[in-house]
Amino acid sequence: MRTHHCSELRESHIGQSVTLIGWVNSARDHGGVIFVDLRDREGLTQCVFRPEENPQVAVQSHTLREEDVVQVTGRVAKRLEGSDNTRIPTGAIEIVATVLRIVNKADVLPFQLDKELSNEDLRMKYRYLDLRRARMSKNIRQRSIITSAARRYLDTAGFYEVETPILSNPTPEGARDFLVPARLNPGRFYALPQAPQQYKQLLMVAGLEKYYQIARCFRDEDLRADRQPEFTQIDIEASFIDQEDIITVVEGLLVAMFKAGLDVDVPDKFPRMTYREAMDIYGSDKPDTRYGMQIIDLADIFATTEFKIFRGTLDGGGVVRAINAKGFAGITTGQMNRLNEIAIQAGLPVKTLAYIKCEGGEYKSPLWKFFTGTEKEAIAAKLDIAEGDVVFFGAGPVDTVSTILGRVRSEIATMMELTKDSTAFNFLWVVDFPLLAHDEETGGWGAVHHPFTRPHPDDIGLLESGDYAKVRACAYDVVLNGYELGGGSIRIHEKDLQAKMFAVLGVGPEEQQIKFSHLLDAFRFGAPPHGGLALGLDRIAMLIAGEESIREVIAFPKNNKGADLMSHSPCQIDTKLLREVYVQSTWKDPKLAAEKAAEAASQG
Ligand code: AMO
Repeated sequence: MRTHHCSELRESHIGQSVTLIGWVNSARDHGGVIFVDLRDREGLTQCVFRPEENPQVAVQSHTLREEDVVQVTGRVAKRLEGSDNTRIPTGAIEIVATVLRIVNKADVLPFQLDKELSNEDLRMKYRYLDLRRARMSKNIRQRSIITSAARRYLDTAGFYEVETPILSNPTPEGARDFLVPARLNPGRFYALPQAPQQYKQLLMVAGLEKYYQIARCFRDEDLRADRQPEFTQIDIEASFIDQEDIITVVEGLLVAMFKAGLDVDVPDKFPRMTYREAMDIYGSDKPDTRYGMQIIDLADIFATTEFKIFRGTLDGGGVVRAINAKGFAGITTGQMNRLNEIAIQAGLPVKTLAYIKCEGGEYKSPLWKFFTGTEKEAIAAKLDIAEGDVVFFGAGPVDTVSTILGRVRSEIATMMELTKDSTAFNFLWVVDFPLLAHDEETGGWGAVHHPFTRPHPDDIGLLESGDYAKVRACAYDVVLNGYELGGGSIRIHEKDLQAKMFAVLGVGPEEQQIKFSHLLDAFRFGAPPHGGLALGLDRIAMLIAGEESIREVIAFPKNNKGADLMSHSPCQIDTKLLREVYVQSTWKDPKLAAEKAAEAASQG
């Protein structure tokens, strides 16, 4: 239907007869001459309809409205002197139209495509129109480019692409499962995979050695800007490898994806930090290292303090730490309240964070008066406090203090717009994660990564002796600018060790048989040592596109209530269909039930 795309024609084409097809981006009437910017996926070309060229076509062109689909045939001509548009590649030429075919008229759109729209519901309802906009079209294209770069890289490195089941069994990745009733097996359900974790390990037992999949994963969890109920992983697994091999493959893969997506050369070796260091210095296992504001331990300064609160904390085995928000003394009351809120959510047991503000040569602080002269001097020196700074303190158990100061640090960075104009890509490996975390609610132990993760070889003894909190895992996360891009581990490949791990997690022998017999069985028949990692493709695409939500790089995302406002999913299902899959809807939405009751009452 076309001879060229709307981005292709240049002065070298002048005089040629061409046909373009696309959408009317804009139509302007200049004294009876109609100028149309015709748009297709690739770009814009100006078409001009002059009565003297073809009076009938010129009359027809008066009916054109934005987003009509039209086909234009005409001659490529140089634009009039001084009317070049240097912002578009076709800006030196225009098409003098001789034929116009109106392929399909468009109604008035619910929103303008060339303006940013803050009403996200409206964008989602008409997502197919939202995706026509230049920014979204660029994002979708960029995602396609980086996905194929990932495939190319992994294919070249000898990985086989294998698809694994979507209708599968529950997978323990830490979220709730989405369930699908199985009609042929009344009363039974499939679970959608939270990740292809067990299948990829079974592919290693199957002898594939190197596997990857652009894998759709499903997790029923609270949604955030970087979390969707269905999302995509670049899932990788390999046999006869160690942690270094996986790290090298993933570094190469990310370098290739950033080159393809942005034409930037990111360093091919990423710095590393242990989980403990990350928590101590940044209060996060996915620290944004584009700015400092590191957490400073003050135990040495307060070793002999008489300030009761710090004294008690340190004597009780806790920590006293602080961050210096340089130049943030202008903090507003609203901002201070917000920081307090965040700190309380993170576990602050009191209503306000302790702080020191250095303003007008004075230290303003509810605490300052409790410190001795030596303590004051030491604090100022260790935290490098200068005019205009604000210091926030945390005192208590180490994990709580880390979490509080980590969240406060990151919120201050947002408030101060510390990374607003940053073009840096600060990749980081966080290694040596703990294997297990104590669950306060159940009193048991949970897997920090997942139950298939190998304990650090030096810590197997600790696992045996029950010193679970100290056992490190052969697990690693790759982080970029404060986002967890991916996580992985070396796996357990021995039946007994896997059974031991399940037992530690409170999964008894019977439950192991019901849920994991396939894996435990497979480990009996010569399972190779193996390990892998999964990258969140949506998050990578988001960071490459410079967006703040993965919704901006997913064609049809769900909103933060897990709904698709365009196709109205999730929807109610007919009782007939439910009966066919042996599901009885026993739970009633209280709001719906109330509405129905009101309706029945009104009908007498
Ligand atoms: P993990 O659970 O860490 O590991 O997931 C890997 C990566 O997937 C991305 N991700 C998400 N992206 C968008 N929305 C979500 N709800 C979501 N959840 C996770 C993140 C994350 O780093 N099977 C293991 C991997 C392995 O051990 O090989 C796993 O799934 O970027």
